[in-house]
Parts: sequence; C-alpha cells; structure tokens
Amino acid sequence: MASHENGAGTQDVLLEIRDLKTHFALDEGTVRAVDGVDLDVRRRQVVGVVGESGCGKSMTAMSIMRLIPPPGQIVEGEIRFHRPFDERPDAKDIVDLAQFESNDRQLRDIRGNQISMVFQEPMTALSPVRTVGKQIAEAILLHQDVNKAEARDISIETLARVKMPNPEQRFDDYPFQLSGGMRQRAVIAMALACRPQLLIADEPTTALDVTTEAQILDLMRELQAEYDMAILYITHNLGVVAEMAEEVVVMYLGKVVERCDVDSIFYNPKHPYTKGLLNSIPRLEDVLQDKREKLNAIEGMVPSSFQRLSGCAFHPRCPDFMPGVCDEAEPQLIQLEEGHAVRCHLYT
Ligand SMILES: Nc1ncnc2c1ncn2[C@@H]1O[C@H](COP(=O)(O)OP(=O)(O)O)[C@@H](O)[C@H]1O
Ligand SMILES: [Mg+2]
Repeated sequence: MASHENGAGTQDVLLEIRDLKTHFALDEGTVRAVDGVDLDVRRRQVVGVVGESGCGKSMTAMSIMRLIPPPGQIVEGEIRFHRPFDERPDAKDIVDLAQFESNDRQLRDIRGNQISMVFQEPMTALSPVRTVGKQIAEAILLHQDVNKAEARDISIETLARVKMPNPEQRFDDYPFQLSGGMRQRAVIAMALACRPQLLIADEPTTALDVTTEAQILDLMRELQAEYDMAILYITHNLGVVAEMAEEVVVMYLGKVVERCDVDSIFYNPKHPYTKGLLNSIPRLEDVLQDKREKLNAIEGMVPSSFQRLSGCAFHPRCPDFMPGVCDEAEPQLIQLEEGHAVRCHLYT
C-alpha cells in the first residue's frame, strides 16, 4: 500500500500539477508559455484542455513529458505523478516530474511507458527512414523485458487493436506508405504499446480530414476504456471536447481560467473567455441561414507573448472588464462549487 495516499478521494489521483511555470528566456524578453497551471487527472479520467492557439497547451504537455525545447524550462511548480507501485520496489509512489534531471533513469522509465504522448503531426513521432513496425517494437524493447520476436508480436497485436488494416503487412511499411489516418493509428499504437496509465494527446486529429478525425476519436474512446487509462486531451476545438472529455480545463495565456465538468462548460460557463469561446462556435441554424457574418469571434487579439499585462491577462478583450479592478490585481483561481473553479474578478 502506498504510504502517501490515504482517503478515497486521493486514491484515484494520477497526476497533480501545481502552479507550473515554463518560461523561455529569449533575448527579446521572457515568454511565459505556461504561467501558473493547476490541473488534476484521476485514473481512467479524460480531461480536456482547451484554449486558442498559443495559450500554452502544448508546452504544458511538453512540461509533463519533460521534452520542452531549449531555452524553455520549468521555473516553478510541481508535476506530481502517482506511479503504480507494483513495478519496482525501489520506485517512489509519488514522483515530481518537474524535479528530475532531464536524463534521469526514473524519468526515462516513465516517459513512453507509463506516460506517453500522441502529437498533432504523426511525423513528429515517426522516423521517415525506418519501418513503422521497427519503431513500435523499439519502444517496447526499451521498456519491457521481452525479446525481439515477442516485441514484434506485441507490435502487431497493438497495430491490430488500433484497427490498422493488415497489421502484419503494415509492420514492414515505411511511414510514407501509409495514409495520414493510418500514420496516426501507428503513432497511437506506439504510444499504447507499453500500456500507459496516462496518454497525452495533443491535437491528434487536427491534421486529419473530418471523417478520419471521427474514426480516430472513436478509436481513442474505445482504447481508453479497453486500456483503462487516463487521457489528457488537448484541442482548440470545443466540439471535440464535448465528445471526448469528462472534465475540462480552459487555458488563456499560460493560465487555467476555468475548470469544471464537461456539461458545465457548455451549460454553465462562468469565465467571460469561456463564454467567448462558446459563442465563436458556428451554430447550425446560423450556417443554414447564411448568418455566418454574425459569428461572434472574441474581440481583440491574443497579446504578444512578451507582453506582461497587469491584473487579469484577459482584461483588454473582456466584455465584462471592470476598470480599476481587472487591470489592477490578478484574480486567483477560486472554487465556485464542488468541481467548478474560475479565475475571474466577477466572482471574487
Ligand atoms: N520553442 C519555443 N521558443 C519560444 N517560445 C515558444 C516556443 N514554443 C512555444 N513558445 C511560446 O509559448 C507559448 C505557448 O505555446 P504553445 O504551448 O505551443 O501553445 P498552444 O499549444 O496552446 O498553441 C506561445 O506564446 C509560443 O509562442
Ligand atoms: Mg499546441
């Protein structure tokens, strides 16, 4: 039994991110890509992360994986991962991923094994010059105590489970021989081959056409149940969130501005930014009546990454802006009710 875990609620925790800050110190100034993210994922839970491009979704994911491109680095915060205890007796039950040196053995042990990631562009994960099967088998050989023949069998079995047509033949294909959808299936197979507790999916369907997207979303939902894993699902698309996630985290400029269950995000949004995102989804009746020009985009631009705004970072675009309040003090993430938190002065 784990020494640190007690009480029914905490037993289920898989990942706890606290006040995570990942910054890029550049000559032009500091980019605060992630600037105070709090986020929890429970075992088997699907958590959606939404927000406009540039708000720090990918860098949050890369921070968890400890794959932040230099000069980016975690400057503050914790990423507590509750490891399964049965794997290695000397392993700690709760590890702070933010504390590891980038080449730490424990970190290499976790990455690609207990936590794995699927990227937007499948070729980010695949080498163009090696067969798909070899690459999946390598991931298995790296983490599991099996021989080459067994790794091959597991790879083909995993390819079959992601519904790759003719998995045995596909094993010997190079990535360029596959369609975009099949490539993403191969990448998902690679990510799942070691049966991770947590899968981080960073816009995995954005590069695909809508039909293929729907198939991959179906597949990920099935696999989530089958593999009993949690998914951190990153997307700019609220429609995808509605389909995939149980809980939703809304990010704006490196911060979590709202966090709640998926129904509340659509029926009871609190943050003006969340409401803006919802209003910017085209509604079917408007499209049919060709009222597209009335589409409510959120006004204003996302400020430059170098700019540091006083008060709430959303205040220059906010329809509910309160002068002297919102541009003065930074709002804290406050709990409105069980399971619903918001970072906004309207509620303080
Ligand atoms: N390699 C990098 N060097 C400098 N800044 C970066 C780098 N990667 C990302 N950023 C900055 O970090 C911020 C967050 O980026 P990102 O996490 O990729 O956003 P998202 O995934 O939400 O679109 C952006 O302002 C982006 O310009
Ligand atoms: Mg991104």
